[in-house]
Amino acid sequence: MQGMLIRHAEPSDYQPIIAVVNEWWGGRQMADMLPMLFFMHFRPTSFVVENKGKIVGFVIGFVSHTFPEEAYIHFVGVHPEFRKDGVAGALYEKFFAAVAKLGCSIVRCVTAPINKGSIAFHHRMGFTAKDSEKIVDGVPVVEGYDGKGEDRVLFSKILDVERN
Ligand SMILES: CC(C)(COP(=O)(O)OP(=O)(O)OC[C@H]1O[C@@H](n2cnc3c(N)ncnc32)[C@H](O)[C@@H]1OP(=O)(O)O)[C@@H](O)C(=O)NCCC(=O)NCCS
Repeated sequence: MQGMLIRHAEPSDYQPIIAVVNEWWGGRQMADMLPMLFFMHFRPTSFVVENKGKIVGFVIGFVSHTFPEEAYIHFVGVHPEFRKDGVAGALYEKFFAAVAKLGCSIVRCVTAPINKGSIAFHHRMGFTAKDSEKIVDGVPVVEGYDGKGEDRVLFSKILDVERN
């Protein structure tokens, strides 16, 4: 993370990010789930990390309109060559601080059971997976959460709001 800059995501970041998102997810087709609207309408709670002017990581999240004390992280991604260097952790800390200031005390996100890296990262960041009867590789998985065959791990983390 040394020498890198964290700033809010801007609409102008959309094209450079969408061009690499499938590649950063190891070839999974993710781009359709990340339309421009996230960069336009969720700027206060979305961030990018730049290294020498190039985006090497991003987090897109928002405060729930249904549950104003809850925040949701939709996407987090880091350039493969910049992983395990604290980039996503720093993005999450920035997000936690931003949503705590907006009155949130819980952060939620979901991930696919196949995404072992994401599951390990979220556990390391203090997230807990919601209990379920279905267990895959030791992790509770909610069957069909995002539609038929689309199982998900439902993560949540209670924020230490007094810290902020
Ligand atoms: C998951 C991802 C965002 C992690 O980014 P990162 O910048 O490498 O994460 P960090 O370096 O900040 O890691 C924070 C902690 O999580 C751990 N961690 C991160 N990725 C891990 C992995 N694949 N396996 C095990 N632990 C991992 C780190 O070791 C670190 O723990 P530490 O503090 O004890 O050292 C990144 O691997 C990625 O972009 N993956 C592809 C996209 C994706 O799956 N996104 C998540 C679903 S939306």
